[in-house]
Amino acid sequence: MPGAAPLDPTVLIIIGANGDLAWRKLLPALYNLHLDRHLPEKFAIIGVDRREQDRATFCERIRDGVNRFSRRAVTDETLWQRFGDKAEYLREDLADNTSGAALIARLNEIDAQWGARANRIYYFAIPPTLMRLAASMLQRLGICMDCSHDRVVLEKPFGHDLASAHDLNAYLLEIFAERQLYRIDHYLGKQTVQNILAFRFANSLFEPIWNRRYIDHVQITVAETVGVEARGEYYEKAGALRDMVQNHLLQVLCLVAMEPPISFEADEIRNKKVDVLHAIRPIQGDDIHRVAVRGQYRQGSIAGQTVSGYREEAQVSPASTTTTFAAFKLHIDNWRWQGVPFYLRTGKRMAAKVSEIAIVFRSPPHQFFPSAAVESWQPNRITIRIQPDEGIATRIQVKQPGNRLLLGAAEMQFLYKDAFTTPAPEAYETLLLDATRGDATLFMRADQVESAWKVVMPILDAWDAIPPTDFPNYDAGSWGPDAANLMLAREGHAWLPPSVTPQAQEGA
Ligand code: BG6
Repeated sequence: MPGAAPLDPTVLIIIGANGDLAWRKLLPALYNLHLDRHLPEKFAIIGVDRREQDRATFCERIRDGVNRFSRRAVTDETLWQRFGDKAEYLREDLADNTSGAALIARLNEIDAQWGARANRIYYFAIPPTLMRLAASMLQRLGICMDCSHDRVVLEKPFGHDLASAHDLNAYLLEIFAERQLYRIDHYLGKQTVQNILAFRFANSLFEPIWNRRYIDHVQITVAETVGVEARGEYYEKAGALRDMVQNHLLQVLCLVAMEPPISFEADEIRNKKVDVLHAIRPIQGDDIHRVAVRGQYRQGSIAGQTVSGYREEAQVSPASTTTTFAAFKLHIDNWRWQGVPFYLRTGKRMAAKVSEIAIVFRSPPHQFFPSAAVESWQPNRITIRIQPDEGIATRIQVKQPGNRLLLGAAEMQFLYKDAFTTPAPEAYETLLLDATRGDATLFMRADQVESAWKVVMPILDAWDAIPPTDFPNYDAGSWGPDAANLMLAREGHAWLPPSVTPQAQEGA
């Protein structure tokens, strides 16, 4: 990175190194950071897991993951060798109270070899049920006690509900300082999610109109074509609200709705986001049925392929009432957003993979064009595309060519792939590099996680109290249950058809 200060010697200890996350995301991301020369010169990866395994087998698995999932496969043996040399493997069992001696010895050896106390990043790539065990192992071993050198990265989901997230925070904060904790929400590592900040606050054009005076409503859609794949067991306990809303959707909402930060300090940005979560009007029990819709997919067809219903997926109960689609309306009670509805929806097995934010503007205050001219008038709209076709589209009204005055909608587009030649890093590359640098801006603070839980708890509680009677209620390959359309229609709105492209369909 031109001009960036060299990074301190770092050891990344991946706890759960044989798991899916390490294989598909973390190690391929590290490989890309290595190719781009972003890693510190002195950098070591220690994979830790329960299984007995030698270094060569671990490296083979890394290579396999890189070739399958990385944006760049292994093409140069020398570069690969240099990366492989950084990786090693240790067998440690979190549940065994006597484990850890080998890890301590290896960490001390590396420090001695490098002539410096390396930064240590412990990445908990493990299920939430094991997080306490991993934290208490680090406490018992005394190897993560130095606030200026030692960090812990925690994968989502962070807790199962507000109470468990609160307990986990309290537990971790007895052992570590908050500034050592990096709670991941991988959406925050996406370039296009970070671009929301740039778009809003690096331009003077949009911020003056970014409020209730000009904006009619906001829609946030995160739709996926995939089902639950091999994660049925996890998903049965999670469902769409815990899996996507409590974290990814609410974080995107915060970026869209937050006030301008005063500085780029991690805490300043996080404070502004927490302000949004605090300002979200609590959903009252009686309102739930008017402002929230749940769904579960049945068999259907996506890109010409028949796909099974949720209840037929592996490790899923044939009578499951787990929610695979959620849509709801939120209000933000502050000066900027009073009266502007925010509609959010997310679902598995939907018609296309697309994540986008639509900012829909009010009509002009006075319409003086002849009525024939404005027959196909549509409101201005800014669409921020998170994925695919990353970019921003602005819809304006123009005069259609011809002798008559007829207005029509046209789009002004910015597409990352046309504007820049540099390929965008994957979210995990950005996040791993930030954790290595000690920059917590894109990670979640304890109060942020808990405030997000507070927003979804009333919906979770209401849905738990009254199990759905109409599941499954949407076809795989559709845009979700009819009730989601009705919810908006009651307010004179409609979900906007996302900008679906063939590429998006293929991303299934
Ligand atoms: C994860 C969820 O956090 O995000 C998955 O657990 C989901 O269920 C995934 O598929 C979506 O991420 P992306 O980056 O593909 O939009």
